[in-house]
Amino acid sequence: GGDTTTPQETFVKCFFDHHPDAPTNIISVKNSASYDAVYRSNIQNIRLLVSSSTTKPLIVVTPTTESHVQTSVTCGRVAGLGVRVRCGGHDYEGMSYVSDGPQFVIVDLVNLRSIAVDVKRGTAWVGAGATLGEVYYNVGKASPTAGFPAGLCPTVGVGGHITGGGFGTMLRKYGTAADNMVDARVVDAQGRLLDRKSMGEDLFWALRGGGGASFGIVIAFKLKLVSVPPKVTVFSVSKTLSQNATALLHRWQYVAEKFDDNLFVRTIAQAFNDGAAPGGRSIQVLFNSLFLGTRQQLLPLMQRSFPELGLQDSDCTEMTWLESVLYFAGYSGRAPEVLLDRRPEFNSSFKAKSDFVREPISVAGWESIWAFLMAARGEPLVMIMDPFGGVMGRISETSIAFPHRKGNLFNIQYFMRWFETDSAVTQGHLDWIRRMHGFMAPYVSKNPRAAYVNYKDIDLGRSTEGPGAFTAASRSWGGQYFLGNFKRLASVKGRVDRDNFFKNEQSIPPLVWSS
Ligand code: FDA
Repeated sequence: GGDTTTPQETFVKCFFDHHPDAPTNIISVKNSASYDAVYRSNIQNIRLLVSSSTTKPLIVVTPTTESHVQTSVTCGRVAGLGVRVRCGGHDYEGMSYVSDGPQFVIVDLVNLRSIAVDVKRGTAWVGAGATLGEVYYNVGKASPTAGFPAGLCPTVGVGGHITGGGFGTMLRKYGTAADNMVDARVVDAQGRLLDRKSMGEDLFWALRGGGGASFGIVIAFKLKLVSVPPKVTVFSVSKTLSQNATALLHRWQYVAEKFDDNLFVRTIAQAFNDGAAPGGRSIQVLFNSLFLGTRQQLLPLMQRSFPELGLQDSDCTEMTWLESVLYFAGYSGRAPEVLLDRRPEFNSSFKAKSDFVREPISVAGWESIWAFLMAARGEPLVMIMDPFGGVMGRISETSIAFPHRKGNLFNIQYFMRWFETDSAVTQGHLDWIRRMHGFMAPYVSKNPRAAYVNYKDIDLGRSTEGPGAFTAASRSWGGQYFLGNFKRLASVKGRVDRDNFFKNEQSIPPLVWSS
């Protein structure tokens, strides 16, 4: 008794005992002068920050060496504090920066983000704290014909993104980011630093789409670069209901998944106010595309595969692959250095959900979806639909932990963003997106209703501990995110983190086999 040392004091003492020469400013303790700026540096979703029901970290560590990361794990154990790693801070439910109760430490890898591109070998070592924008910039600058297949938003961190799968405009040609990860350096729950060889193939499998947070702290990724032509072609064609949007989207479901692998056409649907439309509301569907080739190659391809869209030469723009990254990020015409800006673009709240569609939705189905969207006045609900097919249909469901492959026509992300921080406003938006998700049930995958772990959704369920944790998760979020791979993920977790040191609201429960 009589010991009044706080867990944060224990952690800090432990850390500097290991690293007497470490700069003191790499640790920010809650309520200290530096804490807020470091803590808030890359938080994307204000909803979790302003909520009174979330717990903020006691400490944010920004390691400058790999051994600082190892020590953070060791000292987290000594102090009895959980450790959560943060890279880009884009987690949809804030699991890298808030908890629903337990006290914890954030290890933020912002200082571990060096990128070394080896053009000759076609690989790059990337510090996990780098953003996708930093990766694209460095790869694109190193070679005009090298690229990397991952998400569209440049401020997304590679740490969370790649360990959750990660896909964007090249997924039909080259698969997910995780499919193109060939090695990694990871600190495990014992504080050991491992690479692909020493961690074993089952952990390396799990880190490719199983979500990194359950397994360790990835410090660096070795990525396989992909080849892109010197010129790619982009287009954005928008259609409203009076311009035949429904029939075109209906048709898109049949063709987008079967297109040439070089062609990616996603669609984005939302309601808008239209004075000329019945009821003053209409729907806009944007057909938004990257083609890995020239305009001359694209036009006949579209004429053959999707003539209904009526794509014109004047709709298409040729550019370098790096310029296409800027285009999809909404930075057309800007200097590529904008990709190096890590600051959050919006000081806003958002909520998203996801689905996979395996059977085309009928015209009548789309019409009822439109009626639902148009009734949601003032609700900024957007449906972003990414086509699958191509190589995604040819990689086996078990090749890596990311399981969503053959048979998926497209992924839907339902997304809402708002700027008010009032809790009643937030609740209203959350209610709408939940109703939307409920409404969509007949049209999407079933048993399980699949979801994408990088579009994290706490409504699917929470991780529990103890006997029954695996079974409960299998029936909800675990089975939905990981399908048939969930059991293997839980077994890997049981091997590498049996006492569940790395945990969060949806971390994989350890499945331990008794002999
Ligand atoms: P963050 O740092 O919040 O981490 C997310 C999770 O991963 C946390 O649980 C964290 O602990 C864990 N983690 C982070 N770094 C780790 C590491 N080094 N080792 C182990 N675990 C780690 N997705 C997509 O596939 N395609 C897309 O186009 C987009 N676009 C997009 C746009 C915007 C605006 C947002 C907010 C998000 C996306 N995403 C996306 C989703 C994105 O892929 C997802 O949120 C990632 O998990 C974010 O990774 P960060 O490192 O940024 O987040």
